[in-house]
Amino acid sequence: MAKSISAPKTPLRLVQLTDSHLFADAGGALRGVPTLPALRTVLAAAAQDIARCDAILATGDLAQDDPDGYTHFREALAPLGKPVLCIPGNHDLPQPMRTALAQPPFELDGPVDLGAWRILLLDSTIPGQTGGRLGAAQLARLDRQLADAPERTALIALHHHPLPVGSRWLDALGLVNAAEFFAVLDRHPQVRAVVHGHAHQQHDAQRRGVRILGTPSTCAQFLPDSDGFAMDDRPPAWRRLALHGDGGVESSVEWVELPSSARH
Ligand SMILES: [Fe+2]
Repeated sequence: MAKSISAPKTPLRLVQLTDSHLFADAGGALRGVPTLPALRTVLAAAAQDIARCDAILATGDLAQDDPDGYTHFREALAPLGKPVLCIPGNHDLPQPMRTALAQPPFELDGPVDLGAWRILLLDSTIPGQTGGRLGAAQLARLDRQLADAPERTALIALHHHPLPVGSRWLDALGLVNAAEFFAVLDRHPQVRAVVHGHAHQQHDAQRRGVRILGTPSTCAQFLPDSDGFAMDDRPPAWRRLALHGDGGVESSVEWVELPSSARH
């Protein structure tokens, strides 16, 4: 059963946050960036958009292999008064994540019907691996959830990038069976957007009329166009999405400078 969130006005507005990589230690850092202070700084910078958005989309790696990271995530997001649609990434722990985010405003399964749109939430993780894959059950579920609502324009959220982002090392760690994913999309012309995390950088591509958007992390970023692993010195970021009634997608990435005291 799809969850329904009434949203009479258009466009629908989403705020995407991704790859917050939270630790139990509130001062824990990823590659020199303390992740919880960075998330809080992003939330403060996005406050106006969050206040008027219809939902927040959190696209994985909410915690950094740490079950107590979810407590911080919950405490940071729950008071904002918005539905928070969450999917797991390769650094998430399925059971602690599900337990910590079991109650509203968190939604882990979907689909979520929002105005004229349907938001589909996928799990592309493979236990113990960095790269991603959509198993047969996920692909069948996606196909069914799209077939059930052909009249609704669709946005799909998954953690791993289904198209190369241009970095050789990272493109070996994306969605390994992207062809199977795209074969499902090709059967459902109402799909207009795919949003992902994992790449820790901005990416904006089109495939057969579907906008495919990668969003930088709320903490540390990877260097674009790099053959080998390398960090970028760009700051935390978040993505604004406006989903129009005619299927149009407007989007922009907002970068958020951290105070120098917040960097290690
Ligand atoms: Fe990540």
